Amino acid sequence: MVSCRGKSSCTILHFIVEQQGLIKELGRLRREEGDGLNMAKMWAGRFKKEVDEKVNDFNSSISFDARMYRQDIRGSIAHATMLGATGIIEQHEAQLIVDGLEGILADLDDGSLSINPEAEDIHMFVEAELTKRLGDTGKRLHTARSRNDQVALDLRLYLKDELCEIIEMVRELTLTICNLAEQHTGTVMPGYTHLQRAQPVTFAHHLMAYAQMFLRDMGRLSDAGKRMDEMPLGSGALAATTYPINREKVRELLGFARITANSLDGVSDRDFCIETAAAISTLMMHLSRLSEEIVLWCSWEFKFIELDDAYATGSSIMPQKKNPDVAELVRGKTGRVIGDLVTLLTMMKNLPLAYNKDMQEDKEAIFDAVDTVKLCVTTMTPMLATMRVLKDNMRAAAAKGFINATDCADYLVKKGLPFRDAYKITGQLVALCIDTDKTLETLELSEYQAVCDVFDEDVYKAISLETCLGERKAVGGPSPSSVEKQISRVRLLIHEHD
Ligand code: ARG
Repeated sequence: MVSCRGKSSCTILHFIVEQQGLIKELGRLRREEGDGLNMAKMWAGRFKKEVDEKVNDFNSSISFDARMYRQDIRGSIAHATMLGATGIIEQHEAQLIVDGLEGILADLDDGSLSINPEAEDIHMFVEAELTKRLGDTGKRLHTARSRNDQVALDLRLYLKDELCEIIEMVRELTLTICNLAEQHTGTVMPGYTHLQRAQPVTFAHHLMAYAQMFLRDMGRLSDAGKRMDEMPLGSGALAATTYPINREKVRELLGFARITANSLDGVSDRDFCIETAAAISTLMMHLSRLSEEIVLWCSWEFKFIELDDAYATGSSIMPQKKNPDVAELVRGKTGRVIGDLVTLLTMMKNLPLAYNKDMQEDKEAIFDAVDTVKLCVTTMTPMLATMRVLKDNMRAAAAKGFINATDCADYLVKKGLPFRDAYKITGQLVALCIDTDKTLETLELSEYQAVCDVFDEDVYKAISLETCLGERKAVGGPSPSSVEKQISRVRLLIHEHD
């Protein structure tokens, strides 16, 4: 599936954040000092005037696309190698370009070269830097290529790597859930519908429902990765090129599964961003549901769990407070990520073929979705691993709320009554319990028999929470043995998207 090569990780994230903050300020300083490279010159031939300074800033994407410098250089190295191999440019010049690009990459990586904020975008920056280093040879790199196919390539390369990282993070999260579930296959808690106590489940069963969601999320992320695994270089600006390029060679060098099939689509397709954002939004929606439950479970009304101090916060005024801010923030950030998806869909929906500058807006949206989900998953995982599960409170909640009422009705059905009659009789018993402040467990046998003479001493065993749980052993059910099977199955499936 998606390639993990050139993994970026935290260092690059720091770099990006620093760059984004510094880049604008640097630009201003350089302009004041007058030492800036005039990047506009790259396309200045047709123009009689310099572009307005504000328009320059408005048009620029370097402050956010600089994070793709590795992908941009990788793409350029593959392109230059192909240009040399096909004889479109001289082999020795291709080699100089490749060496030059590798030098730029190393210098950016070790910080000896910083991004020039006056470049319109990362593509212009790398090309200008190459030309600064190699002179005329550097100017040959852009033969048979356009920034339109270049940006489509960079973004695919970038997202392929990111998807890989996100899948790995979700795998960790799912494993943490499995580990936690393993310890709680016997921890009874009420299962809810309409947030009303409904039937008995265990904490393990409840957690494993989320494991299923995260498995599907991994599948969706992986599918997005498979579909985006197409190499768009060679699409040119929109209508490919007249040079005898070898797209298959570039594809192979960059490790893509296929090449894009239509040049117009190759430069104007952003489905891969939208699909990624949709998969991330769905994952965030799941994290948000879990967060909502954590917020509830932390409340004094539930008190099912207690978060570790490292994953909770206090109040500046109320000394007693321990707030589940992390879970609340995950829930809050979900709205933002869904907003990113809507941004992308709205940005694309009216665009005629092929490339339009509107599409530059794709990056901030998809980068935000990617950064946010990574932050959320990696904060949720240790929060779950360290939280304290208050089993006794769960059990006490399960003892109230008549969550064994269905089992009481089923008891009568097993004795030969039709379910509808059994349901009605049990309803009467529940009403009696409410009136007399009893539970089904504490009702006298005589009280049972006054409503229906089919009841016998064995009703107490039938409605005990242990029986209610233990007997729910259908595949997918909450019985300890069934949940153990769920856990081992998830542990197997978790590696499907390696
Ligand atoms: N910075 C541009 C983007 O992100 C790169 C492509 C520019 N192409 C163009 N024809 N102006 O979309």
